[in-house]
Amino acid sequence: MHLTSIDSLSDDQIERVLSEGLRWFDYNRQRRRNDHRLDGLTVINAFFENSTRTLLSFEIAANRLGAQVVTMQVEHSSIKKGETLDDTARTLNAMRPDALVIRHGTGGTPSEVAALMDCPVINAGDGTGEHPTQALLDAATLRRHFGRIEGLKVAICGDIRHSRVARSNRKLLERLGAEVRLAGPPSLLPEDADATDIDSAVAGADAVMMLRIQRERLADDLGDLPGEFLENYGLTAARFASAAPQAVIMHPGPINRGVEIEGALADDPERSLITRQVEMGVAVRMAVLDLLTADRRD
Ligand code: NCD
Repeated sequence: MHLTSIDSLSDDQIERVLSEGLRWFDYNRQRRRNDHRLDGLTVINAFFENSTRTLLSFEIAANRLGAQVVTMQVEHSSIKKGETLDDTARTLNAMRPDALVIRHGTGGTPSEVAALMDCPVINAGDGTGEHPTQALLDAATLRRHFGRIEGLKVAICGDIRHSRVARSNRKLLERLGAEVRLAGPPSLLPEDADATDIDSAVAGADAVMMLRIQRERLADDLGDLPGEFLENYGLTAARFASAAPQAVIMHPGPINRGVEIEGALADDPERSLITRQVEMGVAVRMAVLDLLTADRRD
């Protein structure tokens, strides 16, 4: 089994990842951690795009379950000598890993690589495609906070067009019964999305998830002046005041303070779940690695 998209998972598997993720979350807060269920298994991380949270949390998750973890140094790899991605995949497969975690700038790469591998492949973000483990950790964070996901109004705002986080989250949260509202500047919305403006999206929302402008994926600069994006499309205290009284703020990171979100809102100890999302990332990735490697253990 591979995890290339939210569609890779059955409803039962989603439920299992969320409930196990919540259990690992508490487990990770204990001082003594001694689970070894992935003893003797090898997990390879191959990240062809930059990452702080996703890469480190996959490394920590695999380590915490007792696996041997190796992270490919892409900058120093033979890709730089002209080796094709398919040949790199065949090379990694020959080393008999038990799971491959891959991030790549081109959409569809994890599925392409999965076809060449004998072990489970986990998509850690493919271009503007999907980022299924981010959506799973976001859903687990919401469930931990609200005790449920069904019926929640979730506004996802910003650069929707380039966001694999938005794509996976929309699929997952709608499957779990949430109302997802998408909002952003017209040039950063996909053609197929029924989107609204940020003020309507935030009004009455239980959770507001802000997204970074993915300038590295834009053909032309937006031409915005400093502060202009925040004023027109970002989360300001004035805008957030129209959300539900107990609303929370989320962001997958990295944050661009003062661009898509006011710094003070990101730091709000009552309302911001941003660091909680990071903490949940380790826990949910433990649940994902456990699920995907289950049939490789006795
Ligand atoms: C995001 C990503 O890489 O898709 N970050 C993450 O994984 N937490 C979002 C982004 O880069 O803006």
